[in-house]
Amino acid sequence: MKICLFGGSFNPIHKGHIKIAKEAIKQLDLDELIFIPCQKNPFKKDINYASGEDRKKMIELVLEDKMSISDFEIKRQGISYTIDTVKYFKNKYPNDELYLLIGSDNLLKLSKWKDIDEISNLIQIVVFKREKEINKTNIKKYKCILINNQLFPESSTNFFKGQFDIVEENVLHYIGKNKLYFEDILKNVLDAQRYLHSVHTKEFAIKLAKSHNYDVKKAAFAGYVHDIAKSLANDNKTQARKIIKDYYKDPQKDIQDYQLHQELGYIILKKFAIEEEIAHAVKVHTSLALELSTLDKIVYLSDKLCQGRKYPDIQKIREKALKNLDEGLKLVILKTKEFNINKGIKFTQEQEDIYDKWSK
Ligand SMILES: [Fe+2]
Ligand SMILES: [Fe+2]
Repeated sequence: MKICLFGGSFNPIHKGHIKIAKEAIKQLDLDELIFIPCQKNPFKKDINYASGEDRKKMIELVLEDKMSISDFEIKRQGISYTIDTVKYFKNKYPNDELYLLIGSDNLLKLSKWKDIDEISNLIQIVVFKREKEINKTNIKKYKCILINNQLFPESSTNFFKGQFDIVEENVLHYIGKNKLYFEDILKNVLDAQRYLHSVHTKEFAIKLAKSHNYDVKKAAFAGYVHDIAKSLANDNKTQARKIIKDYYKDPQKDIQDYQLHQELGYIILKKFAIEEEIAHAVKVHTSLALELSTLDKIVYLSDKLCQGRKYPDIQKIREKALKNLDEGLKLVILKTKEFNINKGIKFTQEQEDIYDKWSK
């Protein structure tokens, strides 16, 4: 049997990994390709990893024909060294043809790998292309086979920067259900100041939830992610509008500029299958709506009353909101209206109606 080991952090597994796995199966005529998520990549010590168990489950969701997964490295704990993995599988499959699949981005530092000479004697190293320029010296030195694959644009880095479609839908749902990676995503899609505002909003949402007997975890998460689309929407308003119109299948949909990031935020959270209650609070956190849930109010108020916001009487309004949610809402709306009128902003009739209803 021809068996290929494919190690990596798979943090999380994305479509690029699957493309490469398929290509290797085809070009090497493999019987099996084994994904081996590592406990920690010795070269990427500062990256936040989802737990081994979570990364394993996400891989299981996207396995195709002739693909399997081994939790050998996860179970060992600590830093994974390839030599130990190679020896383990050599031992397990003494009579099979074994391959080790690596990306060409590893070629340069290959000579630094622990016991690399022994690795290249024990197993056939196979290299897939990650970039156009390939380090031919090490290919020769370690007798590697080069797979002639098309370059693929997917990478975990791009995922954290907001290219969520490079991850399979069921994996996105797993991430959303288990609330994985949102800290890394927010730190990558928001600038430092906006990230800090997200943390402050989360903190005030926790206070409000505690004061009003609401689910603290839900409020904290909703407050934390409420501006997830702020930069994505601001950086490309045309694209944001298009995504929103496509989502609602309504090319005529009227969307005000200030609504872009709440709408896009909603759509992103729905991609991750985040509960409707949370996604809805994000969807109405700037405009509000004629119908509001407790969480909608908590997120709106946290955004406007959190640390870092400064306007006259804010401390009094904070105290009011902690005692009575609707009273707080009324006061914040009156302030917001006044602020926007002074800025010369005209409200749509719909917005007037919403403000009137909640500030009466
Ligand atoms: Fe916002
Ligand atoms: Fe905000």
